[in-house]
Amino acid sequence: MVKIILNGKEMEVPDGKPLIEFLREVTHVPGFCYTEELEPYGSCRLCLVSTPRGVTTSCTLKPVEGLKVETLTDEVISMRKTALELILSDHYGDCIGPCQDACPAHSDVQGYLALIAMGKYHEAVKLMKEKYILPAVLGRVCPAFCEQACRRNLVDEPLAIRQLKRFAADYDLEHGPWMPEIPPSTGKRIAVIGGGPAGLACAYYLRTMGHEVTIFEAMPELGGMMRYGIPPYRLPRDVLDRDIATVIGTGIEVKTNTALGRDVTLEELREEYDAVFLGVGAWRSRRMGIPGEELEGVMHGIEFLRKVNMGEEVKLGERVIVVGGGNTAMDVARTALRLGAKVTVVYRRSRAEMPANEREVEEAMEEGVEFLFLTNPVRILGDGKVEEVELIKMRLREPDASGRRRPIPIEGSEFRVKADNVILAIGQYCDEDFLKNLGIKAKRGKAVVDEVTLQTNLPGVFAGGDLVLGPSTVIESIATGRKAAIMIDLYLKGKLEKAREVLLEPEKHIEEVLNDEDLYRILFDLRPYNHWKKVTEKDYEGVERKPRAKVELLDPEVRRRNFEEVEPSLTEEQVLEEAKRCMSCGCMEVFRCKLREYATLYNARQDAFEGEGNRFELDESHPFVVLDNNKCVLCGQCVRFTHEVAGEGVVDYMFRGFKTMISPPLGGTLGDAEGLFIGEMIDICPVGAITEKLPFVKPGPWKTTPVKTVCNGCSFACEMNIEVYDGILVRASSVEKSWNGHLCDVCRFARPWAEDLVQPLLNGKPVSWEEAKKFIAEREYALILTPELTNEEISFFKEFAQKRGISIGSTVEGELSTATLEDIRKAKRVLLKADPEKYPLLKLLLRDKVIVGEDYDVAILEGPAEPLEAPTLILHEGVNAAGLIRAGITGIPESKAYVVVGRTEKELKGDVLILPAGVWAAKEGTVTNALGMELKVRKALEGYSPLGLFS
Ligand code: SF4
Ligand code: SF4
Ligand code: SF4
Ligand code: FES
Repeated sequence: MVKIILNGKEMEVPDGKPLIEFLREVTHVPGFCYTEELEPYGSCRLCLVSTPRGVTTSCTLKPVEGLKVETLTDEVISMRKTALELILSDHYGDCIGPCQDACPAHSDVQGYLALIAMGKYHEAVKLMKEKYILPAVLGRVCPAFCEQACRRNLVDEPLAIRQLKRFAADYDLEHGPWMPEIPPSTGKRIAVIGGGPAGLACAYYLRTMGHEVTIFEAMPELGGMMRYGIPPYRLPRDVLDRDIATVIGTGIEVKTNTALGRDVTLEELREEYDAVFLGVGAWRSRRMGIPGEELEGVMHGIEFLRKVNMGEEVKLGERVIVVGGGNTAMDVARTALRLGAKVTVVYRRSRAEMPANEREVEEAMEEGVEFLFLTNPVRILGDGKVEEVELIKMRLREPDASGRRRPIPIEGSEFRVKADNVILAIGQYCDEDFLKNLGIKAKRGKAVVDEVTLQTNLPGVFAGGDLVLGPSTVIESIATGRKAAIMIDLYLKGKLEKAREVLLEPEKHIEEVLNDEDLYRILFDLRPYNHWKKVTEKDYEGVERKPRAKVELLDPEVRRRNFEEVEPSLTEEQVLEEAKRCMSCGCMEVFRCKLREYATLYNARQDAFEGEGNRFELDESHPFVVLDNNKCVLCGQCVRFTHEVAGEGVVDYMFRGFKTMISPPLGGTLGDAEGLFIGEMIDICPVGAITEKLPFVKPGPWKTTPVKTVCNGCSFACEMNIEVYDGILVRASSVEKSWNGHLCDVCRFARPWAEDLVQPLLNGKPVSWEEAKKFIAEREYALILTPELTNEEISFFKEFAQKRGISIGSTVEGELSTATLEDIRKAKRVLLKADPEKYPLLKLLLRDKVIVGEDYDVAILEGPAEPLEAPTLILHEGVNAAGLIRAGITGIPESKAYVVVGRTEKELKGDVLILPAGVWAAKEGTVTNALGMELKVRKALEGYSPLGLFS
């Protein structure tokens, strides 16, 4: 041991080992290329630390007495950031799909589409609700920013993401909606003013953090613009009600008909509650400022929609002029049409500039709404009430500095049209005076908030939705509501200011972020590093063309006469097919990638260094592994592992300098490579350059949870993780510092831990569970156990057989090992009579040993066998053969009938009932491996147990 001074503190550290090993136990040191198992390599230049002799890589530094080391000086941070930016400058991939980036809430579109493709609709909704509420509403009214960005646009047509969302959300509502678990109350109380999308989202996410929330809503019902603005032919009220009920059902108190300023004051709320969220929307309509605006028959879009949607009588004449080109104008026009009027929309720019959704415009046209583009009202004429509107033709100027083409009137082009009503839908804003009276700063019709925290000038008062954004879409409002909830939570914990600093300059707060769960979570939630490939249609030439799923809208002639929902849902068949069109653009390792994690922490940019970039072809030739050199950081770990640890030499470096890449030797492909530890490189690779092809319709990715258990692939029972996501067994992964070190390809790709018989077999034929139970209850049989059972299950069956006087045996024969792991590690000369293909770990255990026929230190035999004089490892088929031998249950007893628990190839005479032993991943208990180690098996999911059939 030597004493060093680490970040100002004296510490004892082991000498002889690279300093990084100790540093990583106590603090953060990034790095891609160092691993304890191999000699330091020093290629990535990320593990830099500061010493009196300068900044150096800590993986190549051995501690010496009195060494002073600093790990997070400004210089070190800046040099690490530069190293990251150099790596990123030649890194070609999509961290997340462009769809996720385009969604204002950054929901995991790719992830939920993959769940939908598997028919897992509740799970899809659960994933959506990590980022937004009201999926059934959004599945109808969202303009689908994600679809506009969808990469499939470069192939044929974008995915029908909105419709897929709608199907999953409707399914979820109909089959008992997924509801979040609410943690115990924090005792903090928050007042949410406004029950529109922003307020509901803020309330929901605060509830999911355990806070007590009360929503104050001025109107008789919740929903805001969704209820009082959006017409029911776009958003049926029962859908809105049921979606809102899933929000309120989390335990939110609601006070309707309670207006701020009228029924409660902000002072009272600030006094009574720990924080306040303002989401009162933008309900003021813009005026045109033209003569005649005060005439009877002139209305404002929002007021008109509110009245109709509240069921108030609105008298319209025969001819209605709607002024505006946004979604409100479309809602007004189509609503007026349904009330029996002849409607003309007047818009001052051309159709291409219309801010309304293309879909809305098309549907309005189909229904018979007329449009006058490049036209603007000059005045409204009439004797007390509207009779005529004078319009003027407009032309568009060249784009100005802001890129917008301004419309200008064409002199002398005025003309008049007859009209009974004019409805102005030219924009809304929030009531600035109202805000100012509350003491809240407002500007240009919006509340002024801190852009990062959404806090207003009043401490503890936050704002979101239209109040902050101006008139916005439901999803944009929901996104601000969720963000405000996160910020309010931080405020209540006294961390708001720190969070703000972290979000602005994460690299200056690395230590704090890594030591504070909240700061870490919000940084990766709100500001994760991402980049995207620059692609064109050419890049997708090879992708199969497949038309987008479509629905037929209600007949325009019929729908224009009622308020029935215009758009039907896709069928389930269409949904499952459509979800398969997703190209899963985002990186499969996005949740585990070290490069992305470091780039987020160090605020690294991809474009900091301009230069030529490599473009490599993907190697997808292996059935389970993909090698993508575009994402390789040349850390060398895979190369060194496969050569020095696995002894397989599956990949090597190819070419030199800038063109260096990783490839199987001699220009081969991974598909030709032979090895038993090829998959291990997936876990070893710190980025998404080596990934697994998962056996699902779509591979996610999803953020999995590792459950540490043991593999049932062979009698070594290697320690492993089963990575689970919401009941899906996603993949196997290595456990850091496990006794076995690495996982073989049998565990990874054959997935023995994920499989079981699906039903009982009687004499080789599937039978029902009832028949199986009847057999057990009525027949005389011998019970045969297989090594697929845990020690606890073996004890249960042993006791059961004893009590019932049933003979018991197992598919295992032979003796236990006498060799320990230590014996094998120490041995130099080994007698080997077992097949490494069947027991792949042997390959790692026998590295640098000599295989001999005599004078051996240990013997390794395949069971059934007797131990030899030297320590002997006896390998049996199945994971818990040793457990059965230890329990004294071996061999097949004589009987006329058998009940076997687990899978077997053994030929048994008489009637044979084989029962599933239960999916390995659903087991809890212990097993004894061939080396005599007792190892813990842990449940990664709930499942069937064979014990129930015998109780
Ligand atoms: S390897 Fe990492 S940095 Fe690269 S695309 Fe994947 S997630 Fe992003
Ligand atoms: S193809 Fe799928 S992952 Fe890619 S952008 Fe479209 S929806 Fe997103
Ligand atoms: S492919 Fe190999 S060299 Fe490249 S980043 Fe992954 S482990 Fe490192
Ligand atoms: S240079 Fe030390 S970990 Fe890469």
